[in-house]
Amino acid sequence: MVVTPLRLRQQLAAFSPLSAITLAAAALTRLSGARTALEGAETLVAHHYDAQRAVLTDSGRSALQVAIELAVNVRGEERIVGLPAFQCFEVASAAVGAGCRIDFYDVDPYTLGPDLDSLERMLRRGVKVVVIAPLYGVPVAWDEVRALVDLYGARAIEDAAQGHGARWNGKRLGSLGLLSVVSFGRGKGWTGGAGGALLMRGDFSAVEPPMQHSAQEARIFAVTLVQWLAGRPWLYGLPASVPSLGLGETRYHGPTPPERMAAISASVVRWTHDMSAREAGVRRENAERWRLELPARTLAGLPHLTPGAVPGYLRLPIRLSPASAASASSGQAKRLGVARSYPVPLERVAEIAGNLCESRPVNPGADLLAARLVTLPTHSRLSEDDRRAIVDLCGGWTY
Ligand SMILES: Cc1ncc(COP(=O)(O)O)c(C=O)c1O
Repeated sequence: MVVTPLRLRQQLAAFSPLSAITLAAAALTRLSGARTALEGAETLVAHHYDAQRAVLTDSGRSALQVAIELAVNVRGEERIVGLPAFQCFEVASAAVGAGCRIDFYDVDPYTLGPDLDSLERMLRRGVKVVVIAPLYGVPVAWDEVRALVDLYGARAIEDAAQGHGARWNGKRLGSLGLLSVVSFGRGKGWTGGAGGALLMRGDFSAVEPPMQHSAQEARIFAVTLVQWLAGRPWLYGLPASVPSLGLGETRYHGPTPPERMAAISASVVRWTHDMSAREAGVRRENAERWRLELPARTLAGLPHLTPGAVPGYLRLPIRLSPASAASASSGQAKRLGVARSYPVPLERVAEIAGNLCESRPVNPGADLLAARLVTLPTHSRLSEDDRRAIVDLCGGWTY
């Protein structure tokens, strides 16, 4: 039997700002009562994202599920939702939870935004509800997308789960749709340990997910505490070596009935607001430094930005040649926080096969991204040594 030596040091692919003080303050705030904690955080989140109303949910997936249900019911049409062909598997899970069949539009591998021709073909097939979900905080051309969606009398849900810190034409991602969704989950730019938010602008029916039990609250607080303790580069190799935790893996999690965010998470959201804004600034600076430090042939694979875009760069996405992307799966790359993106387009996630529409056009952009998209860390825990080692690793990469 080959025993691989355990290395404690491993860089995180993404980092959510938390501190002992924010966790302690959150625990104290929670004592003022669950409703008070939730309502305080909902007011803050609604204000931050310029929404008429925010409903905090147990996950970003739940928030998206509720958004899809609202959008589908408003139209009273067949329950079909259009998703990007390349995205986080939770997006598909939310559609399944909303009881929808799923159609896809392709993702442009050069901008990472919707392929507008493919989106239009999908709208012509009669899809009336579309999820637009920017990858890694790279804003999409929202004006073009909205014009197209409006032309076909459809409705766009903005899923800004990866968009913390990003802006498009001066507006925050998460503030663009009539219905928007954000995530406060692990590894997101602004975290509550777990959770999400549904953001509403306009006339939607009331949404009142059930409250969580206090036993769940205690578990969430314990997990958040462990995440905070273990989320340090000198120690992260330990949890990352436990297969059952699945850290850094893309797995499909089936939908669960949406619940309200745990009050303790809502308190954490309130207390991490300012440090998350600072961290977003660091991510942007680090992304700029990558532009100066990486070889030109690697930089050629960076996404083309749409006018007015200020990315949030939860991670820095780069399109590489298939061989270079394969080498980004090495143990050394993993130890440096370099990670492959999603391994397959959504239509190949076996668990959602029963929900797919019959028409199955090819999505070459999504296939290309699954084979070739790699992400570099941008967070504040990246050391100078890590940066140098990543530049060495990238030396052999081609676009
Ligand atoms: C685009 C997108 N939407 C939704 C989600 C679901 O968020 P959560 O993990 O909070 O359920 C994610 C999670 O990573 C995501 O990336």
